[in-house]
Amino acid sequence: MTQAPGVVWITGASSGLGFELALRYASDGYTVVASARRKDKLLALVAQARSQGFNGKVLPVVLDVTNDESVNKAIGEILNTAGIPDIVVLNAGYYEPCSLEEISLQHFLLTYEVNVHGVVRCLFGMLDELKQKDQSQVVLVSSVAGYSGLPRAAAYGSSKAALIHLAESLRHECKASGINITLVNPGFVKTPLTDKNEFPMPFIMSVEKATDAMYKGIQSGRFEVTFPKRFTWMLKFLRILPYPLYFAITRKFL
Ligand SMILES: NC(=O)c1ccc[n+]([C@@H]2O[C@H](COP(=O)([O-])OP(=O)(O)OC[C@H]3O[C@@H](n4cnc5c(N)ncnc54)[C@H](OP(=O)(O)O)[C@@H]3O)[C@@H](O)[C@H]2O)c1
Repeated sequence: MTQAPGVVWITGASSGLGFELALRYASDGYTVVASARRKDKLLALVAQARSQGFNGKVLPVVLDVTNDESVNKAIGEILNTAGIPDIVVLNAGYYEPCSLEEISLQHFLLTYEVNVHGVVRCLFGMLDELKQKDQSQVVLVSSVAGYSGLPRAAAYGSSKAALIHLAESLRHECKASGINITLVNPGFVKTPLTDKNEFPMPFIMSVEKATDAMYKGIQSGRFEVTFPKRFTWMLKFLRILPYPLYFAITRKFL
């Protein structure tokens, strides 16, 4: 599906995949609304897009996805300054590696608040507006960590599994309202999020390569965008194995 440049709203645009994706859309002439909590990083994004002479404008709109008031205020600002987005990329995410000894209720609540409720808050805050357009696209950035339960990822993995389920569940109803749902499931990508990991990360991709795959995948309009294929298809295969075999393999990830 080829789209003429329009307005794209990206959450989690102050760093990593969101930052790179914002630059990519700006380079293609889109008006990019870039959201996150750190205003200085969003302003650095605006400056970088400007210094690279990109055609599209980048509008920074600060928001905390865990806060109703902040999200509603940001949505009001977006509608006033850029209008209803054509594409909404719900990418803001939180991850802390966590073993059973370190895990706490607090850790779970924060992970779910950003990764699940934060997405739902932004999505449903904008949904009535999106329904007014003939066509729009909502991109949920989940993870291959949501395919099945893996060691040391109880909170993060289950929050991302919730997003996969959410995307599958919304797919048909949203389509009937002209909203195309896209689910992005990256493998490991080198960003500040994965810099916290001390274990070897198979098939880790550069943020530039991952953003390219993500951008092209979103443009294609297909339901799932996942990369790098060699790694993500191995994980897809893992989840269909019978449990004795599945656990025999995943025990090695400890
Ligand atoms: N890197 C990977 O290997 C990988 C793999 C699979 C999936 N993912 C997913 O891809 C997405 C982007 O990850 P990344 O690797 O680019 O991570 P990152 O560099 O840590 O970026 C995370 C972004 O989320 C924003 N964010 C966090 N909490 C927020 C909050 N309460 N309100 C608003 N924004 C918030 C951060 O901005 P502020 O701190 O400025 O608010 C930042 O812009 C995440 O959903 C992540 O789970 C990443």
